Amino acid sequence: MEKYPGKKNIAVFISGRGSNLKSLIKNSKRKNSSYKILLVISNNPNAAGLNYALKSKIKQYAIEYKSKSSFERQSLKILKKYKIDLLCLAGFMKILSGSFIKKFSKPILNIHPSLLPKYKGLNTHLRAIKNKDKFAGASVHKVNQKLDSGKIILQKKIKILKKDNVISLKNKVLKIEHEIYPKAIVKFLTNL
Ligand code: GAR
Repeated sequence: MEKYPGKKNIAVFISGRGSNLKSLIKNSKRKNSSYKILLVISNNPNAAGLNYALKSKIKQYAIEYKSKSSFERQSLKILKKYKIDLLCLAGFMKILSGSFIKKFSKPILNIHPSLLPKYKGLNTHLRAIKNKDKFAGASVHKVNQKLDSGKIILQKKIKILKKDNVISLKNKVLKIEHEIYPKAIVKFLTNL
C-alpha cells in the first residue's frame, strides 16, 4: 500500500557526500513529484550525506559494513518494513549481491559517472581523459547482478574540453548527475 497516495516509496543508499541524495530530496518535495523518499541507509556512519536526510526529517540508518551479508540482511529488513517500491543507489560504493537483488524483488537504480557501457567501475573521469575521449557523461541504469551493466534508463553527455582535468570533469559530470537522476526516476516510475 502506498504510504503517500499517488507516490511511490523510495529508499536511497549512500556511502559519503550525498550530493545526489540532496538533489533527489529537493525534487521529491515538488508538489507533483511521483516519489517520496522514506528512508536513507548508509554503510558508513560518518557519511556527510546523512545530514541531508536529517535536515528533511527522513528516517536514516547507518549500518556499519561489518560484512556484506550482515549489511544486506539488516537493510532488507528495513526496506521490507517500509514497503519500499524502488531502491536508488546514490554514491553507494559497495556492490550488492545477487541474493540481495533477488530477495528485495523490487527494482534498484544506480547513477554512474560515465557514458555506460564505457568505463564501468571506478576512476571513470581519469580513464576518459587518458583515452582522449571527446565526451563524458553520466548514466542512470537498473542494477542487475553484473557491475554497472543493467538497462540504461537515462544518460546525458557533455563535451570534454582541452582544458579539463579530472577535477573539473568530475564537477561538470556531477552537475548533470543531479539533473538526470530525478528525471530518470520519474521516467522509470511512469513505465513501472
Ligand atoms: C557520484 O559521482 C556518483 O556517480 C558516484 O559517486 C559519486 C557520489 O557523489 N558513484 C559511483 O561511482 C558508483 N559506482 P555524491 O555522494 O555526492 O552523490
